[in-house]
Amino acid sequence: MTNITIFASGSGSNAENIFNYFKGNNEIRISSIITNNKNAFVIERAQKLNIPCEIISKLEFQNSEYVLNILKKYNSDFIVLAGFLLLIPEYLISEFQKKIINIHPALLPKYGGKGMYGDNVHKSVIENNETESGITVHFVNQKYDEGKIIFQKKCTITPSDTAETLANKIHELEYNYFPKTIEKIISDAQKIKNE
Ligand code: GAR
Repeated sequence: MTNITIFASGSGSNAENIFNYFKGNNEIRISSIITNNKNAFVIERAQKLNIPCEIISKLEFQNSEYVLNILKKYNSDFIVLAGFLLLIPEYLISEFQKKIINIHPALLPKYGGKGMYGDNVHKSVIENNETESGITVHFVNQKYDEGKIIFQKKCTITPSDTAETLANKIHELEYNYFPKTIEKIISDAQKIKNE
């Protein structure tokens, strides 16, 4: 069994969607959710879905022993960032090489970096009169949104789109493609391991 821990800072609709996608799967499961935000709605979703959920403060995130022990407790093989705000510390990146996957709600390398989160991204895209946006799934490295790109999918922006309607389009893409992409990454990693 491959265990995924999801990191989320906000609503957690992707976390819920990923959990539902893998429900009943004998090889991959969501073993836990970690959030840095004690007010995040993802905590309520985790309770509803019966997924163990840990709240780790920004300061606690710097404590490698503390965080790695929590991940060990949940047998975490992969970490999936689904709307996670904090920069991932070095110790996690070296411990989980090519095993931390992020989704970004734009077509990287454009509209990435610190502060480019959720609706901020969509507002910038609309302000710049872009005609398309999309989603990017990538491995995580030491810098915000700069790790190797694994998957992208585009959507069209019409003149009547607002940050809100674009966010809806992006979420639809995320719900459709993020779980499948995670599944593919894990199955490719298994193949390499078995070679
Ligand atoms: C998602 O659109 C995700 O791509 C984005 O935050 C949203 C979280 O929604 N992530 C980032 O902006 C990372 N820089 P959710 O909490 O409903 O899943």
